Amino acid sequence: MSDLKITGLYKRYGNIEVLKDINLDIRSGEFIVFVGPSGCGKSTLLRTISGLETISAGQLEIGGRVVNDVAPSKRGIAMVFQSYALYPHMTVFDNMAYSLKLTRTPRAEIEKKVRAAADMLQLSPYLDRLPKALSGGQRQRVAIGRAIVRNPQVFLFDEPLSNLDAALRVATRMEIAKLKESLPDTTMIYVTHDQVEAMTLADRIVVLKDGVVMQVGTPMELYDHPQSLFVAGFIGSPQMNFLTGPNAAPYKAATVGVRPEHMEVLPDGKGAWSGKVIYSEDLGSDSYIYADIGQDEAVIVRQDGKTPYHSGDTISFSPKGDLYHRFDEAGKPMGSGGVAAPVDPVQPDRELL
Ligand SMILES: Nc1ncnc2c1ncn2[C@@H]1O[C@H](COP(=O)(O)OP(=O)(O)OP(=O)(O)O)[C@@H](O)[C@H]1O
Ligand SMILES: [Mg+2]
Repeated sequence: MSDLKITGLYKRYGNIEVLKDINLDIRSGEFIVFVGPSGCGKSTLLRTISGLETISAGQLEIGGRVVNDVAPSKRGIAMVFQSYALYPHMTVFDNMAYSLKLTRTPRAEIEKKVRAAADMLQLSPYLDRLPKALSGGQRQRVAIGRAIVRNPQVFLFDEPLSNLDAALRVATRMEIAKLKESLPDTTMIYVTHDQVEAMTLADRIVVLKDGVVMQVGTPMELYDHPQSLFVAGFIGSPQMNFLTGPNAAPYKAATVGVRPEHMEVLPDGKGAWSGKVIYSEDLGSDSYIYADIGQDEAVIVRQDGKTPYHSGDTISFSPKGDLYHRFDEAGKPMGSGGVAAPVDPVQPDRELL
């Protein structure tokens, strides 16, 4: 069993409170992704789970056992960091075998475990190489392999792909997705800044802000039913447009949120909002139009394929059907067009778990 239960967890450095009343129930075998702005406490939360940081208050259970005072090496956890820190003078095989040698694992068993991990990560052809003769993605896979051979109950990843270039990120992301499938009983907790990694890898995403859990849910729950302006703006890229003041008044809300992909351009000024195009980006597959409708922030409208709209043009647009979100003065959701507000929108974290 590798379920994790975090109850009323606080982390303080002196009088700085970095994590505040964290409550999470993570099921055995789940893939959980932590997201949130820089400095919100993602790495600290991961490090308290691993035991690299102590807990100031609260309780952490792994597999039904309270581990607050259990040493990191005895928690059944393996952690993979952003910088992979391999031993440069050791081959791939020896890097992966190192922790097993330390625990005096028999030679034949080491051989079996390392070869199985190398196979899973497509590293078999490189076992005799030194790290300097590997690409960044291959090195990161060695770091993951080093963790796999220890057969952890819980895998912790802290932005493992952020040092890789775009193509390698995609390839290694797919390796991690395959890893998750091949280890269905292993719980994985993954920190990232990357929207695509969060949306594609996660069974559930935990959104953190200033050391507080803002919302927990499946990627689509967060995308479709953000419970706060913060989560609405944080999940999705480019981020949700927020229309306020007179622009929101017809919708009887303090703020109306519409994702760029949920805007549609209407001819002859017939849209809910109109303005001047200040900038447009053609990406080939789709395009983004930035329009000034008299708010501080430009409104972004996504169109399929190339756009006929360019700087200086006048443009008018509306949400597609019910695809908009209404928020009150406090930033709480009021429901959208035909979509009823989710039940109990105020206290999502503990109740939904
Ligand atoms: N040893 C420490 N002493 C004091 N404050 C610390 C210490 N370690 C971290 N912090 C503070 O705790 C907060 C959370 O840091 P943490 O590294 O968990 O953020 P993060 O969400 O992982 O950010 P990033 O996305 O930039 O990696 C930050 O404000 C940081 O300055
Ligand atoms: Mg961090």
